[in-house]
Amino acid sequence: AAPEASGGSLAGRTVLVTAGPTREAIDPVRFLSNGSTGTMGFEIAREAARRGASVTLLAGPVSLPTPEGVTRVDIVSADDLHEAAMQHADADLVIAAAAVSDYAPASSGDRKLKKADDALSLTLRRTPDVLAALGARKRDGQTLVGFALETHDGEAHARGKLERKNLDWIVLNFQNEPGAGFGTGTNRVVLLSRAGERADLPLAPKAQIAASILDAVAR
Ligand code: CTP
Ligand code: CA
Repeated sequence: AAPEASGGSLAGRTVLVTAGPTREAIDPVRFLSNGSTGTMGFEIAREAARRGASVTLLAGPVSLPTPEGVTRVDIVSADDLHEAAMQHADADLVIAAAAVSDYAPASSGDRKLKKADDALSLTLRRTPDVLAALGARKRDGQTLVGFALETHDGEAHARGKLERKNLDWIVLNFQNEPGAGFGTGTNRVVLLSRAGERADLPLAPKAQIAASILDAVAR
């Protein structure tokens, strides 16, 4: 492994990272998705590998190169992500940075929808909550880290997710602030732990945020 410029070693540890958006097919040429670019998760995977971990990165459709030393598995839908995550569910450290679609079209055929009426209704179904599934089967010694992207009442919502999904840490980030959230090179986050710790990380490049997150959760 590369020598460490900063941060503790993760040599001998397995790390699973989810990153990017998912796509949920409406028909063969259309999908529901979101604006995640995958940058935060890719930076975490890169930094974990740099610290010597054996890293698997489950990546939604993004246009980012695979970080050096990282094993990348591409997924498209929330169902794909769920299936892939279950195969790596025993990782020592799991960091779920993916922006998973909460709903998917209940059915999508192999024929393109043709336009007709002025209004169109889609019936959606809930997708599996991948992180909650990992939390439900969390083993001793495993550390589970989630993300929460909130527009309002961030800390209350994030703490709710921390409890509900049986996480050790949650990374709260904000979509409605300049320089934070989707599609930016920087982020501002608040780290909250189950044990009641709280760390405010000021606006910084996502690579630096990734290092700070690993410093906190791998202690
Ligand atoms: N997550 C997941 N699978 C889903 C939805 C979310 O694994 N189907 C994970 C995300 O990767 C993130 C965390 O759960 O680490 C929280 O995602 P978020 O969208 O903020 O929370 P939700 O529980 O989906 O609640 P809501 O969207 O209603 O705020
Ligand atoms: Ca969600």
